[in-house]
Amino acid sequence: MESPLNATLVERIDQNPELAVFRIRPDSGEIRPFEPGQYAMLALINDEPLPANLPPAAAARTKVRLIKRAYSIASAPKARDHMEFLIVLVKEGRLTPKLWQLKVGDRILLEDQAKGEFTLNHVPRGKNIVMVSTGTGLAPFMSMLRQYHGQGLWNKLVIINGCRYVADFGYPDELKDYVRRDPNLTYLPLATREPVDSGWNGVRSRVNPILEADEFKKHVGFPLDPENCVVMLCGNPDMIDGVQKSLEGRGFVTNTKETKGNIYFERYW
Ligand SMILES: Cc1cc2nc3c(=O)[nH]c(=O)nc-3n(C[C@H](O)[C@H](O)[C@H](O)COP(=O)(O)OP(=O)(O)OC[C@H]3O[C@@H](n4cnc5c(N)ncnc54)[C@H](O)[C@@H]3O)c2cc1C
Ligand SMILES: NC(=O)c1ccc[n+]([C@@H]2O[C@H](COP(=O)([O-])OP(=O)(O)OC[C@H]3O[C@@H](n4cnc5c(N)ncnc54)[C@H](OP(=O)(O)O)[C@@H]3O)[C@@H](O)[C@H]2O)c1
Repeated sequence: MESPLNATLVERIDQNPELAVFRIRPDSGEIRPFEPGQYAMLALINDEPLPANLPPAAAARTKVRLIKRAYSIASAPKARDHMEFLIVLVKEGRLTPKLWQLKVGDRILLEDQAKGEFTLNHVPRGKNIVMVSTGTGLAPFMSMLRQYHGQGLWNKLVIINGCRYVADFGYPDELKDYVRRDPNLTYLPLATREPVDSGWNGVRSRVNPILEADEFKKHVGFPLDPENCVVMLCGNPDMIDGVQKSLEGRGFVTNTKETKGNIYFERYW
């Protein structure tokens, strides 16, 4: 049977034992066009045993089975050599423990066509964009930043990434480098479980309190108001629910197909 795997892991950067950047190149050599913020499906062969009660005839008919999951593309469409993904290991999960076993050169399935509506296409130009993520929810924002930086799509850009530990922040050096070059960019990494005596002098908080009016102004330097700001949320669905509810109480409106708004979100589960 022909293998459905159509791509190769060309680089893997392990930032800590449970967080890694995977760079994947399709056999076709062609990265199909996509919008920053979209996701691609990655899959590996499911070699888990078939259910014991499956009739032998049905077992014989069973084709190659896959375990497939969605991953936000962290690279920019202008990177033509590979697609990049920022992935956290979910130890009790089905796909990520298998991803963690991969070495450079190993095979994977990367679905050709990226999907998703979590892009800047629907976001009005010239606003202050506040990109809020937990954990690997940072990934789609990296693609947007890498592709659009310097093109005047936004007035000010704020990237807030809430993680458990400092070691979980994705791309901190690259983000700090953008900040050094761009006075209109704020990068605010937040850690919730970093020990107080670790030597890190950043902010220890979940994202929610930092989006409250006074705290936001204090940390970011301008008000988080619905007239001038758009908020994009990505990652943990409980974070999204909490922030959405709080912002809606302050005059923000969730963007839907029917209603134009200024809150956009992508839930990871
Ligand atoms: C549109 C979209 C984009 C996504 N992009 C990314 C991405 O860029 N990077 C990434 O690591 N994951 C991403 N995910 C999550 C990813 O699809 C998988 O759910 C995840 O890798 C776990 O797969 P699994 O088979 O190992 O675990 P499963 O057996 O599917 O277990 C899922 C459980 O793991 C937890 N979980 C899943 N994803 C995460 C996460 N990212 N952070 C914390 N806990 C999580 C939740 O408790 C969830 O119920 C995305 C999901 C969606 C829907
Ligand atoms: N990061 C690790 O060290 C670690 C270690 C072992 C396993 N894992 C596994 O990796 C997976 C992903 O973990 P993760 O740390 O990337 O993602 P996560 O659990 O979503 O946590 C990321 C950040 O989101 C915060 N958060 C959680 N719930 C929230 C809510 N309702 N509202 C606002 N903020 C909220 C967390 O704060 P709190 O700290 O307050 O929850 C943390 O700062 C999980 O399956 C986990 O079991 C992670």
